[in-house]
Amino acid sequence: MVAMDDAVYQRCIDPNCDGVLDVKDTSFRCPRCGDLMDVAYDWDRLRPPTSWKFVEQKWSRRTDPLCYSGVWRFRELLPFAPPECVVTIGEGQTILQCADAVATYTGMKPGRVFLQYEGMNPSGSFKDNGMTAAFTHARIVGAKRAACASTGNTSASLAVYCSATGAMRAIIFIGSGKIAYGKLAQALDHGALTIQIAGDFDDAMARVQEVAGKLGIYLVNSINPFRLEGQKTIMYRILEALGWEVPDWVVVPGGNLGNVSSFGKAFGELHHLGLIKRVPRLAVINAAGANTFFHLTQRHGLRWESGRWDREKLSAHYRALDGENVRAATIASAIEINRPVNLPKALRALATCGGLAREVTDQEIVDAKAKVGSGGLGCEPASAAAVAGLRRLRLEGVVDSDERVVCVLTGHQLKDPNATVAYHSSDPKTFDEMLGRRGVRRANFANRAVQVRNELAEIIQAIEVYAR
Ligand code: F0G
Repeated sequence: MVAMDDAVYQRCIDPNCDGVLDVKDTSFRCPRCGDLMDVAYDWDRLRPPTSWKFVEQKWSRRTDPLCYSGVWRFRELLPFAPPECVVTIGEGQTILQCADAVATYTGMKPGRVFLQYEGMNPSGSFKDNGMTAAFTHARIVGAKRAACASTGNTSASLAVYCSATGAMRAIIFIGSGKIAYGKLAQALDHGALTIQIAGDFDDAMARVQEVAGKLGIYLVNSINPFRLEGQKTIMYRILEALGWEVPDWVVVPGGNLGNVSSFGKAFGELHHLGLIKRVPRLAVINAAGANTFFHLTQRHGLRWESGRWDREKLSAHYRALDGENVRAATIASAIEINRPVNLPKALRALATCGGLAREVTDQEIVDAKAKVGSGGLGCEPASAAAVAGLRRLRLEGVVDSDERVVCVLTGHQLKDPNATVAYHSSDPKTFDEMLGRRGVRRANFANRAVQVRNELAEIIQAIEVYAR
């Protein structure tokens, strides 16, 4: 039951449904219609900040963990937890890098493209922004075990938070052979119970919800609305780095669609609170081999429609995938997802922010990744989808060359070293096994290792030829 005087509670995302849950409920589904839930705030009673000074005051108090954390210094904008319940390991120390080489590659003017580098988080991806919030909620409800299905980064983040805080036992579900080595290494090293299911992420996601419900295990996938509260802060840090100016576009890879959902909520709330005067446009980039969101929004015109979105379009799409036994398939394993659980929230985010979706091929992804590596901060393939997507939007003339664009680099380069090495390798077998079989024809920006004999003259000659 939700008490009428609760200023924080969970509310069904469907504006036409009045389903609510107590802040402590962990079912994360509407009790009336089964839809997704939002963390809802009665802002009038919470006295939210009226200017960004509330953050600036914290810059000089970095020895306080709640002021240091890149998530919790914005605590007033995700006020669901008392300060003593917050679980933080110092996440969110990220950089917004102005990347001119990437601007040139994408057809943008210098000074107009920024990379929000989330690879600097403790577990190497943006997931830690959400995990600290989920762990904080888990502490409030007294959970002892936490589970997720994952393409690798959620599980790495869960494993890190469990091992670093000792707060819960981690149980992770992964598809077989579907997870990049850097991420699997993290889960194993940090002692998570790792259950490898004969299936892919979509199978694992369905199973983990079933198991978590049956065993009363706390679920940390992005279906958990508290996780998405933490991920809002990625946008706050971008604004912070831009002197509280709103960019024209935020471009983000789309997998389970948690990020875009939380970004939409973040900007909607900031606008409502008067902390920003306009919202940026959001662009969600799918891999072509896992393009449910692009397919439905751009080819079939699926829209939020104030919550009355056409559910039959989604069901028909899933029936067609099943009928033809189509499985998600992309080198960007992090976003190899055909059944994104946050799709309705993502539709709402596009409505809030005048957003759109695009798809990019694996060839575009690996080439963009090489450009990010050589002219910016490195990233894993899924993150490069954002840069490849921006390039497409420029070619289409949707984004103007002097608009200010932020691409979110969601995960660290070292998460998936196999993809990187295969791209730069001169060995055709290494290239083919990883990339060729996915339809990548060429490594257009390969930086090949130069093979020399162990002889001084030959080494010097190689340097004179290649690094003049
Ligand atoms: N980029 C990276 C590096 C990811 O790990 C993910 C998702 C995404 C983008 C997509 O984000 O789901 O919010 O649309 N990885 C999840 C996982 C699914 O299990 O680690 P999203």
